[in-house]
Amino acid sequence: MVLGVFTISEIEEQVRAGISAIHPYIPGITDDEIKKMYGLRRVVKLNANENALGPSPLAVKAIESEVQLLHLYPDGSSELLRQAVADFHNVSFENVMVGNGSDDLIKLLSETFLDDGDEVVVPHPSFSQYGFGAAIMRANIKPVRLNSDFSYDVEAIAQAVTKKTKLVYLCSPNNPTGTILKRQELEWLLGRLPGHVVVVLDLAYNDFSEHPDRVVETEKLFADPRVCILHTFSKLYGLAGLRIGYGIGHKTLWSYVNRVREPFNVNRVAQRAGAAALLDESHRRESRRHAAASMSQYETLRNEGFDVVPSEGNFVLVKTGDSKGTFQKLMERGILIRSGFKDLDEYVRITFGLKDDNEACIQALIQILHA
Ligand SMILES: Cc1ncc(COP(=O)(O)O)c(C=O)c1O
Repeated sequence: MVLGVFTISEIEEQVRAGISAIHPYIPGITDDEIKKMYGLRRVVKLNANENALGPSPLAVKAIESEVQLLHLYPDGSSELLRQAVADFHNVSFENVMVGNGSDDLIKLLSETFLDDGDEVVVPHPSFSQYGFGAAIMRANIKPVRLNSDFSYDVEAIAQAVTKKTKLVYLCSPNNPTGTILKRQELEWLLGRLPGHVVVVLDLAYNDFSEHPDRVVETEKLFADPRVCILHTFSKLYGLAGLRIGYGIGHKTLWSYVNRVREPFNVNRVAQRAGAAALLDESHRRESRRHAAASMSQYETLRNEGFDVVPSEGNFVLVKTGDSKGTFQKLMERGILIRSGFKDLDEYVRITFGLKDDNEACIQALIQILHA
């Protein structure tokens, strides 16, 4: 046996190319830290697009009974949950894949399709995980800017696609802008995109929307082999802490994704809770109603001179002129929001909270603006 002095730099040389260029996810400051720092009793958390109404009560009931079985592995093929999703959307069981959050599905799709030098077209600004999936596989990200009103520039997206493009992401309502890709724009785009491109249509917030032009999941859309639709239980269903997302797509596409999937990627509590949440029409309706009512509350800010981007999600993008400064000033008042989105230096994203919390945030913003 050779004994020697080993250094970590030798190990570092073994790290796959491209990994050091990835910035790890940095969790924000915690509620407890903020309370301590500013002597606050309560922090209002409006920074992660969670559901202010809490989890679906039907899901909570299902969780309570499932915890007795936590010594057992989950069903690796998540049959119960996949069947519940299939029934809900009126598609076949084989068209459904589930993941440890839709983040997991984004990573799995990236691992399945992307290689060094492939291209991924993403709207910009949009959800950061699309870029993360591309980066871990050393694919090149081609961001396509939204128009100045944050609507989609579908012509620019079509033009950005080349023979090297493997994935095109579309997010509607888009995070962080809250604006939608209109159903007519999607149809136009699908008519223009070639057959070799997987179109990942992320509808994480679509079920909050009642916009007449929002994307509607039709049989025709489900039948398009290029289209892979993502949903999450983290937003409308209030189950972010459980980590469950699902995708609807062609069974052959999923047969490849299934090869890179962890065997038990959705835990047994999550499987039961997700299936139960889909049956909770009342919680879904209340969540949708709450988002619409919250958006109306934010009209007050518009009357005070703020540029408030009309949102179809459970959050709103507001132009305050100084993203970081607004974040700081709200944090000092015990209100946590999101700032610092790339190329949105003048905007903050605020998740809809309970009525009083929305009001507190609106009044704080008005004070800050007038100060
Ligand atoms: C557009 C969008 N897609 C996907 C996700 C990920 O959701 P999940 O919690 O299911 O991983 C989010 C979370 O913020 C999101 O905003």
